[in-house]
Amino acid sequence: MAPRKIIIDTDPGQDDAFAILFALGSPAELEVVGITTVGGNVPLALTAENALKVIELAGRADIPVYAGCPGPMVKKLKTAEYVHGPTGMDGADLPRPTTPLQDEHAVNYLVRAIMDAPEGELTVCTLGPMTNLAMAMVMEPRIIPRLREVVLMGGGFFQGGNATPAAEFNIFVDPHAAHVVFESGVPVTMCPIDCTYTAEMTVEWLDRLRATGKRAAIEAANMADFYRQYGSHKFATSARPIHDACVTGYLLAPELYEQRLCNVTIDIVSPETIGMTLVDWWHVTGKRKNCTVLRRIDPDPFFALMLERIGALA
Ligand code: BDR
Ligand code: CA
Repeated sequence: MAPRKIIIDTDPGQDDAFAILFALGSPAELEVVGITTVGGNVPLALTAENALKVIELAGRADIPVYAGCPGPMVKKLKTAEYVHGPTGMDGADLPRPTTPLQDEHAVNYLVRAIMDAPEGELTVCTLGPMTNLAMAMVMEPRIIPRLREVVLMGGGFFQGGNATPAAEFNIFVDPHAAHVVFESGVPVTMCPIDCTYTAEMTVEWLDRLRATGKRAAIEAANMADFYRQYGSHKFATSARPIHDACVTGYLLAPELYEQRLCNVTIDIVSPETIGMTLVDWWHVTGKRKNCTVLRRIDPDPFFALMLERIGALA
């Protein structure tokens, strides 16, 4: 089978970097046709530079990287240096990229790529605020039925939020964008924190990643060591979820995920719960089921696969 073609929309972010490396280490299954960046964990200039650093680390400077929206559709940007450090990818020691960004804006690229591709071919994976994809859908609604699927890291339901009591960071930062995408009619698969919290990355696993002796694996482990510092107030051990990488895991091995098709709406109005993903898990509303919600990961095969694939990079 030909590899599945994906565009990764991202705000790296150490866990975004893991997601990208995991995908680039899986060329038989996934073809990353482009990467688009958005303001999120850190401002756009840094997320764009970080995406270039990651493709160079993977030896894949041929993948075009496009910078997109610096901030959300309506709200002001909220960043997360308190998790990721001032660069967004603290912990790694990567050179300034020599690969240039593409001149085209990420939103224009998304429209062009989706319109030019055969219908139903492209999947867009969003690993940050969904601003670029929503803007593309608003600008050119004909892209919507052409997409195969949107797979996103974001949201939380039984778990609540991590940015506010109700809202997960990616959806909280740009709830209006998430609303546009969830209401668009495109097949959506959501990987919320309920799911990502079931696959915690341990120190032992990071030791195994380092033991591959590969540069990409070692730099990834170094990033993870920084990223693990945040969250000691939440997690019982030093293990941490590696949120965005769970999207790549789902594309490669969906059978490892417990999942359910549900209706999901995004709160865009309430001052206290804005950005909440309201998941109708029990189908009590009878509303159209617009989203496959991932609930749980089988962690051992997930981490075994990620080790194999990131470890396969140079
Ligand atoms: C999400 O927020 C960001 O900090 C991470 O990169 C991930 O995409 C987790 O809530
Ligand atoms: Ca992210």
